[in-house]
Amino acid sequence: MEIIIQPTQQAATEVAARLIATLLRDKPDAVLGLATGSTPLSLYQTLISMELDWSKVKTFNLDEYIGLPREHSQSYHSFMWENLFRHINIRKENIHIPDGNAKDIPRICEEYEKMIAASGGIDLQVLGIGTDGHIGFNEHTSSLASRTRIKTLTKRTRMDNARFFGSEEAVPFHVITMGIGTIMEARTNLLLAFGANKAAAIAEAVEGPIASSNPASVLQMHRSVKVCLDDPAASKLQRAEYFRWVYDNKPDWQTF
Ligand code: F6R
Repeated sequence: MEIIIQPTQQAATEVAARLIATLLRDKPDAVLGLATGSTPLSLYQTLISMELDWSKVKTFNLDEYIGLPREHSQSYHSFMWENLFRHINIRKENIHIPDGNAKDIPRICEEYEKMIAASGGIDLQVLGIGTDGHIGFNEHTSSLASRTRIKTLTKRTRMDNARFFGSEEAVPFHVITMGIGTIMEARTNLLLAFGANKAAAIAEAVEGPIASSNPASVLQMHRSVKVCLDDPAASKLQRAEYFRWVYDNKPDWQTF
C-alpha cells in the first residue's frame, strides 16, 4: 500500500486526479471502477476541469441501492450523471451501474461480473471507505472473496447516509455491491478518505490485521493500492511520519 498524506482534501484529491489523468492519457480505452458518496465529489470536479478525453473509457460503478427509482435524487445513477457523466464526453453505452430495480437480482449480479470480465477487467478502481471500514457496500464480516451480490446495510451505514436522504428511515436497507473479490481483481485500487471521522477506519485498514471486521484491510493483500488521505483522515496512523517521508523522497521517475 502506498499511503499519500496531504494537508488538505483538495491537495489529496489532486494527487488522485493526476493518477487517473495519467492512466487515461496512457490508455485512452481504460476501464475505471467508480464510487459515489461525498468522498469522490471533489475528485470528479477536478477530473471535469481537466477536460480529459473519455470517449473510449468504460466505467463500472461499485454499487447501487435496491428499490430506489433510477430518477430518485439519491440513486447512484442520478449521482453519477449529475456529478460526472453529464459533464464529460463519455459514451452512454460505456457506463455500467448495477440495476437496483431488476426483477432477478442474482442474475444481473452475475451478468455484471461477466461484463467486467468481458471489458478486460478494471484498470483502476476508485474507493471511498465507510466509518466501519466498508468498501463498496461490503459491510463488516463480508466474505473477503465475495462477488457482486445483494447486501444489507448496517445500522451505522444507514445512519451515516441519512444525511443524503433527510432521515434514516428513508435510506434503503438493501444494495447491490461489487464483492471484495471483485474489487481485489482491479489492477489498481485508489482509496480516498477525508476527515477525522474516517481516521479510525483508515488506521485499522492500513495498520491493523487483515480481517473482515474491517473489509478495507484486505487491500493490504493487493499488489497496487494507493491511499490518498488528508491530515485529519491520517491522524490515527501510527506511522504517518514514515508515510510522509516516503512520499516526499520518491525518486523523480516514480512521482505522479
Ligand atoms: C459508494 C461506496 C461507499 C462509500 C462509503 C463512504 O459508492 O461504495 O463505500 O465510499 O460509504 O461514503 P462517503 O464518501 O459518503 O463518506
